[in-house]
Amino acid sequence: MEENSVENNDCEICIEAKGLWKVFGKRADEIMGSDLRNASKDTILEKTGCVVAVRNVSFTVKKGEFFVIMGLSGSGKSTLIRMLLRLIDSTSGSILVDGEDVLKFNKKKLRDFRRHTTGMVFQYFGLLPHRSVLDNVAYGLKVQGVSKEKRYAKAREAIETVGLKGWEDYLPSALSGGMQQRVGIARALTTDPEILLMDEPFSGLDPLIRREMQDELIELQDKVQKTIVFVTHDLHEALKLGGRIAIMRDGKIIQVGAPEDVITDPADDYVREFVQDASPAKVLTAGGIMEQPEALLYEWQGPKAALHTLRSLKEDHAFMVGRDRKLLGLVTMKRLKGLIQENGSYLKDSMETDIATTGPDVVLEELFPLAAEADYPIAVIDEVGKFIGEIQISSIFENMIQEKTEGNNGRIS
Ligand SMILES: Nc1ncnc2c1ncn2[C@@H]1O[C@H](COP(=O)(O)OP(=O)(O)O)[C@@H](O)[C@H]1O
Ligand SMILES: [Mg+2]
Repeated sequence: MEENSVENNDCEICIEAKGLWKVFGKRADEIMGSDLRNASKDTILEKTGCVVAVRNVSFTVKKGEFFVIMGLSGSGKSTLIRMLLRLIDSTSGSILVDGEDVLKFNKKKLRDFRRHTTGMVFQYFGLLPHRSVLDNVAYGLKVQGVSKEKRYAKAREAIETVGLKGWEDYLPSALSGGMQQRVGIARALTTDPEILLMDEPFSGLDPLIRREMQDELIELQDKVQKTIVFVTHDLHEALKLGGRIAIMRDGKIIQVGAPEDVITDPADDYVREFVQDASPAKVLTAGGIMEQPEALLYEWQGPKAALHTLRSLKEDHAFMVGRDRKLLGLVTMKRLKGLIQENGSYLKDSMETDIATTGPDVVLEELFPLAAEADYPIAVIDEVGKFIGEIQISSIFENMIQEKTEGNNGRIS
């Protein structure tokens, strides 16, 4: 797949689903063959006892794209993502992967497709409880018949990639939820699949760990550049991760677009409602996105010690605090060098005091004007002026809308 048009893989299509339906129940074919298929989910259930889980869904996912399917519980997300692997047989429609019709695959081809082309990560990790982390991760290769030596080597590599080096010999139960899901991700990565399918992988984790895992997944994707189909019911997660987002309701995809499109131009009231209270700019706070700075300078330090700190941490500037971590100002490398040249001995004399500050509970939206003016990070201080963190200007915009990968801003519906 890679030999042709390496340059042009922005527009290369990896997955193409056309007119997919899934009707659960004995009378599925009968429903599909009649006008009844256009009736509402409730009506069909009432009249036939069948459940329409996915209704005439079409979408494409480009190579290397991070494609998010978002919707409330019961909207058909799991059914849809499982149909892509034929873990659930579709009632009607077609699925092309790299131009090949998955629904026409024979048994062997399907098995290869599941083992080599795709990797799946589930909400509840699905780890083998009595096998070590290493064996769990190597499992996919074992069923492929890869030799022990080779599969362990690959598994160790994947374990390192997800940050679990040192945990190879533990049982899953010794690991926290977040770590167990890393094992799940490592397992999906060992076979080096082209496509990663993830069904609410972080939904079982508590919010802090969840954010961390999302950040790590973004980093991981930068490294491995897979085509990812990621299912979530969480709009924040979708906005953060998705290059494009497909929104599902009652089995249908009702909007596909980049995060901005979904926020600024919701397709209908359902999406609007979803998005309304949830605009990250209105929800995320300074305290939620702030970080601890690498370098922090103290009032009582001499200029040369400060210079040493900045140099060794390769920082161009740092906030300066006094007793009780009270924020005093910002010291830049340039000013500091000036001070040293003039033989000054008080760090305070090289300090900028005209700096942007904010409180931890201020929402992103209110930080925009500050961000537009600021040359340096924004300092977050508490009610008594104590320095509690800093916000890089770029992270304000990144948190607002996760940067799209190039070429993902077209809509397809
Ligand atoms: N095996 C099944 N048999 C009957 N109905 C099912 C089955 N699996 C899912 N459903 C129904 O299909 C609809 C979509 O379910 P699902 O795909 O699990 O949604 P989601 O993942 O978005 O929560 C729901 O109404 C659900 O009850
Ligand atoms: Mg589900």
